[in-house]
Amino acid sequence: MNKKIYIIANWKMQLTNVEAAELAYVLKNEGTKEWKNKNTELILCPSFTALLEIGEILQRDSSPHGGEVRNDIPLKLGAQNVFYHEKGQYTGEISPVQLKELGVEYVIIGHSERRQYLNETDEDVNRKMKICLENDLIPIVCIGETFTERRERKTEVTIIRQLTKALEDITLKDKQKIILAYEPVWAISPAPAASPAEVKEIVILIEHLLRDFFDEETIKEKVTIIYGGSVDASNILDYLKISTIEGALVGGASLKAEKFLPLVQSIIKK
Ligand code: PGA
Repeated sequence: MNKKIYIIANWKMQLTNVEAAELAYVLKNEGTKEWKNKNTELILCPSFTALLEIGEILQRDSSPHGGEVRNDIPLKLGAQNVFYHEKGQYTGEISPVQLKELGVEYVIIGHSERRQYLNETDEDVNRKMKICLENDLIPIVCIGETFTERRERKTEVTIIRQLTKALEDITLKDKQKIILAYEPVWAISPAPAASPAEVKEIVILIEHLLRDFFDEETIKEKVTIIYGGSVDASNILDYLKISTIEGALVGGASLKAEKFLPLVQSIIKK
């Protein structure tokens, strides 16, 4: 497989800080021997509270309590959210500058759970994208229809609305990049995954919409489309067969090394 693959582990609020650190440690030590020099990037997205320690684990050479700093491992740090200002009187929020200080390179934005439970709007998503890009953070923007929207045949309308608003006034300069995660809400585990055919249909729509915002070269060089929703070791390769899919956002199957390592290894061995 020649294309660069992004596997994004969205740990949600599922692990304690200790569990998250232990998992990161195992992934780094078990995985990176084989992953090195492969065209696969693994992005760990723990809770904010675990970012500092996991950032340190990823940078260290051996034990969690010491060792050399290393930059050659394909494990990167991502956050699950960010606020759309850099500084100010915003109690409880986290700034992109603070994330950068911890070594964060990616930020998940607009996850359906935040849209559903925290009232995150399309406008918030747009503002968060802009602040990420301004701070050299790569936004991982989640879009996807709910079960009801799909049943009412509003999938396309939803995708068009979410994507159009997310990309409003966005230009991608220099090294700026974005990742778009198509994640149908009805396919998030424990629900069954969307079929590759269903995913492909929406990815074609997304590609089409992207042309209203960026030229072909920008799309090719700076925009990555991935799929999310019940991805595991048994189905990841089916999604990667879709030519424009370059990775996956993985929730449940990223929470245990026994499940996550086979998923990553299946890609690498391909
Ligand atoms: P899942 O979650 O892999 O458990 O379906 C994906 C996500 O919600 O990001």
